[in-house]
This record gives sequence, C-alpha cells and structure tokens, in this order.
Amino acid sequence: MRHFLSLKDFTKEEIIEIINVGLKIKKETKNRIFQPYLKNINLAMIFEKSSTRTRVSFETGINQLGGNGLFLSSKDIQLGRGEPIKDTARVISRMVDLIMIRTFGQDRLEEFASFSKVPVINGLTDKYHPVQLLADYMTMIEFQKENGVCAYVGDGNNMTHSWMILASKLGLELRIATPKGYEPLDDVKEMCEEFAKESGAKLIYTNDPKEAVKDADVVTTDTWVSMGQEEEKEKRIKDFKGYEVNDELMSLAKDDALFLHCLPAYRGYEVSEEVFESHADEIFSEAENRLHAQKGLMVWLMN
Ligand code: CP
Ligand code: NVA
Repeated sequence: MRHFLSLKDFTKEEIIEIINVGLKIKKETKNRIFQPYLKNINLAMIFEKSSTRTRVSFETGINQLGGNGLFLSSKDIQLGRGEPIKDTARVISRMVDLIMIRTFGQDRLEEFASFSKVPVINGLTDKYHPVQLLADYMTMIEFQKENGVCAYVGDGNNMTHSWMILASKLGLELRIATPKGYEPLDDVKEMCEEFAKESGAKLIYTNDPKEAVKDADVVTTDTWVSMGQEEEKEKRIKDFKGYEVNDELMSLAKDDALFLHCLPAYRGYEVSEEVFESHADEIFSEAENRLHAQKGLMVWLMN
C-alpha cells in the first residue's frame, strides 16, 4: 500500500506514470466515456482548511470513476472537537477505501497516515501541496513546456516546496525568487539538492524576481498569505513589495511563456489583473487538470 503524502516518496517514472493515467482518463472523459475504474470505492475527504478546487475535483473525480465521495469538514466531525487524529484515522480507514486530508502540519498528515489501513492522499498541508503539482505538470505537458525552465516568484511556501521536489525529481531548472526571510525551508532545499544530483536538475535561489524570470518558459506564483497566516497579512503585503508578477516582469520571460497559478489568486498582490487575464486559458486548464490528474492518482493508488 502506498500513501501520497509528498512527491519526495515517488520516482520520476512514477510521477510521469500517474500523470499519464490521468491523461488517458481525461481523453476518455472528454469523449463522455466514464469507465468505472473505482466502482464501489469510497473516498473520505477530510478538510481542516477551506477549499474550492480540491473538494470539487476529488468529489467529481471519484463519482466519475464509479465510486463515492464523503465530504468531511473538521467543523462537523469529532476531529474538530478534539478527537485525536490517530483515532480518527483508525475509525475512518476501517470504513472507507481511500482518504484525502487537507490539514495544517505535515506531521499531522503523517501521523494520520501511519494509523490508516488505507491509502492517504495529501490534499495540502502547510509544507506541501503535491496534488497541485501533478496538475501543474500535466498542464506543462499539454502546453509543450514539459522541459521548460521554470521560475517561481513569491512566498517560499507549500507550493514552492512542491515545485522544488517536482523539478529536482524531473531534472528541470527552477529559479526561486523570494523576499529575504521568506525563503523555502532548509530541509527541503537539502533534500532537493540530493535529488538534483541524480536527475541533473538545477535549483537557483535569489531575492531578485527579474533574475528568476529572465528567459523562463514557465512563470508561477502563489498567494503571499497562505491559509493560517491571515494575521500576518499587513506585514506580508509590505515585505512582498516588488514581487508582483505584472506585464513588466513577464516581458522578461520568453514571449510564449506559460503563466501558472494554483489559485485562488489575489490580483494586485502576487499577480496583476493584466497578467492573470492574458493567461487565463492556461490558469483554468491547470485548475481543470486537478480533476484529471487526481483521477489518475486515485486509480494508480488503488491498483
Ligand atoms: N489550488 C487549490 O488547492 O485550491 P483550493 O484551495 O480551492 O482547493
Ligand atoms: N499556499 C496556499 C495554497 C492554496 C491552494 C495556501 O496554503 O493557502
């Protein structure tokens, strides 16, 4: 049995295989062919944080595959009233076949998984957001940018860490521009350096967005204020001055560069209205690919 807690536990070949399963099912879905690959499979989806895309994509995805989804907000289950995570895991995993959880600490997710009898999927933690990267890389493949130079501009957060692992596993060049004090975590950096030795990936860290974006094929960013950081909002907005992905910054990237954003996007902060709307096709393809990539993941994990 495999869990999907971080891309760090998967090889390049496995990551590509999962995405290819997703692409195959996507093609079938576009032709209105719904094969019951996960007939009678019950997926529990536990949310300790808000979500639009993760909830809708997992719930629709499992239904299209012939299974059932149970949406469990921590507000409504005993977990939110203090039932231990390990008890919650032992109860729910005796009743369902697959579990997705969105929570705070990665340690909380790992504890849950260690007590679960069925595969557990990370639907976002403070440290990683690996299902998002499956969709992002699927989108890069579809836009023929799968070997492109990538630039991440903004906060060194769960999205950055997941981009770092994807790039270092796949052998890509990734430049990361963060303000001072908002760099990615050192343990993730060290781990990715090790992966890069094997794959030939290049990870570059800078405090200069222009340096990161110059001649890039793919530019991406994320909110400056992640879920759980609402109290730091004012300080962060000041500290991230100059990190907006706007037309001026995008003009340094290749002419046909992709712009990706995991969403939700905050215009006028991490991205300008103009950049967002001129790249809306890519961004919403990326959002749609959450559905397809995760269907691939669920089928892969259950086989
Ligand atoms: N990108 C993403 O995970 O979106 P949600 O928070 O809406 O699920
Ligand atoms: N970094 C963001 C991603 C949202 C999908 C957050 O954790 O809130």
